[in-house]
Amino acid sequence: MSTRGLEGVIAAESSISSIIDGVLTYRGIDIDDLASHASFEEVIYLLWYGKLPNQSELDQLTKQLAENASIPQELIDQIRLFPNNIHPMGALRTAISALGLFDQEAEEMDDDSNIRKAICIQAKIGTIVTAFARIRAGKDPIAPRSDLGVAANFLYMLTGEEPSAISVEAFNKALVLHADHEFNASTFTARVTVATLSDMYSGITSAIGALKGPLHGGANEQVMATLEAIGEVDKAEGYILNALANKEKIMGFGHRVYKDGDPRAKHLKEMSKALTELTGQPKWYDMSVKINEVVEREKGLKPNVDFYSASVYYSLGIERDLFTPIFAVSRASGWIGHILEQYANNRLIRPRADYVGPQKQDYVPIHQR
Ligand code: MLT
Repeated sequence: MSTRGLEGVIAAESSISSIIDGVLTYRGIDIDDLASHASFEEVIYLLWYGKLPNQSELDQLTKQLAENASIPQELIDQIRLFPNNIHPMGALRTAISALGLFDQEAEEMDDDSNIRKAICIQAKIGTIVTAFARIRAGKDPIAPRSDLGVAANFLYMLTGEEPSAISVEAFNKALVLHADHEFNASTFTARVTVATLSDMYSGITSAIGALKGPLHGGANEQVMATLEAIGEVDKAEGYILNALANKEKIMGFGHRVYKDGDPRAKHLKEMSKALTELTGQPKWYDMSVKINEVVEREKGLKPNVDFYSASVYYSLGIERDLFTPIFAVSRASGWIGHILEQYANNRLIRPRADYVGPQKQDYVPIHQR
């Protein structure tokens, strides 16, 4: 059997999220219920502690996240030194790694220290993304507000304006939907890193590197690039047919583990419709629906989580290259849940290779080659 891309291989046990018969659950709770009812903070608690929080547990976590959201001035000074034209995922990868340098207890590996680091990383990751976004635009970063939750604080730090209730609701739902997804590439990367008993900052830094790729988190930006390249709804069908005829990959469709569609996509589709109408730009939703129809008809592929998230973030006024960093802000919760699970029952992850190279070659001295 081919193990290319480890397709279908069960790599380890996990009790964090499951995808069974096309249904995604976090700790056994259907993503549809979580998307409809849960705050991102509740989901973080669920992923890390294995149960839904009661009110005081939720209040405590929300407070801890808000209180830890500001980042060291030294880190802001470093971000100011980054070139302006880099991809924000590169900036985020470097800044999270640097954040570990300012944590005097980064190497402490007991449970309490790991939870403290978890809160620190989750609380600060959105602050880093928004700080870089503002600094590269020649603006000063905006300090987080202790009275705002994760979704509202992110939008506030990005724009400096109090976000509308509808924007916060939509952004919260997007964070909930992206929080965890079993052994996706970045989560597996985080687990491999910390299974060497390396620290949590290293695990998250590696995961950000993996998420950055266009075959993983980077796909949502590519979707928006496609929508912008098409420009108008009546051009969508021709554009996609032409791209397919040229054997181009249409980003945002198909998924290794879902044969009958990604259960997260319908929520993002609904949000895309509502938000694009609200902002007076329904063409992005209409164009997305048209592309969806054509790709499904021609290739039998359904949209995944990336497809409608593009028009959702665009409608929230977010720049295209921040879409993947937002995925990271959400997925950090899942990465951390998996890192804690890995530490709790660790074994070094060290598979074997099926060697297919040459056998028994003689060493030829360099002057005879
Ligand atoms: C994800 O949510 O991580 C993506 O759908 C990719 C995956 O699961 O492989």
